[in-house]
Amino acid sequence: MTLPVAVLVSGTGSNLQSIIEHIEAGRIDARITAVVSNKADALALDRARKHGLPARVLPHGDFPDRAAFDAALLAAVRESGARAVVLAGFMRLLAPEFIAAFRERILNIHPALLPSFPGIRGQADAAAYGVTIAGATVHFVDEKMDNGPIVIQAAVPALPDDDAASLAARILAMEHRIYPQALAWLAAGRLRVEGRKVRLAPARGGGDAAEAGARAAEGAAYLVNPPLEAGFF
Ligand code: GAR
Repeated sequence: MTLPVAVLVSGTGSNLQSIIEHIEAGRIDARITAVVSNKADALALDRARKHGLPARVLPHGDFPDRAAFDAALLAAVRESGARAVVLAGFMRLLAPEFIAAFRERILNIHPALLPSFPGIRGQADAAAYGVTIAGATVHFVDEKMDNGPIVIQAAVPALPDDDAASLAARILAMEHRIYPQALAWLAAGRLRVEGRKVRLAPARGGGDAAEAGARAAEGAAYLVNPPLEAGFF
């Protein structure tokens, strides 16, 4: 059954765009019931409207306190009929009541290899620290920031001349691939949370696809950066 999802945004919405395109191409069995932004000028809202999706602004500054904002957000998501929530560059922490209402049904993307570099400056912190491998993480949301069980991660090289912007762009390109994949798995009912681990069930009737996936994983099982030189592979 097609999964109804709400997408919460605050900014550019490039992850939203990627998800919309994968849904429209039939690669994710989901439909977006609402796109909700806490910022009125979020480009993500235009992207949603362009694709005929219901877009709504709930400016957090209009509410007397955090609890009131979160209650309105939860109401908007529920009214839309969503059964899962995707945080796509949504820069607010969700209240425990919201998380409890959609336990193990809220996904977030973070532009770092968690548990390294949580918070709002993931890419800048990684670039400043001097890591040689950076990346992105899709995880289920729990009560702690950037903490829930991990669904998928992608690694990219971080280069000595990277600044926050150049590293963020390299990471973002991978975000656009792993977020739709994670949502496709959730929509297909293939994710099961066991403590901190997320188990991915094989695709139904997709023996060949699963096998192809395993073969691909063998070929790209690791990323070493800077690359190993002859004699060290
Ligand atoms: C993405 O890089 C996402 O990982 C990050 O915000 C950007 C949103 O881009 N999220 C966080 O930093 C959450 N802590 P987008 O609006 O173009 O999808």
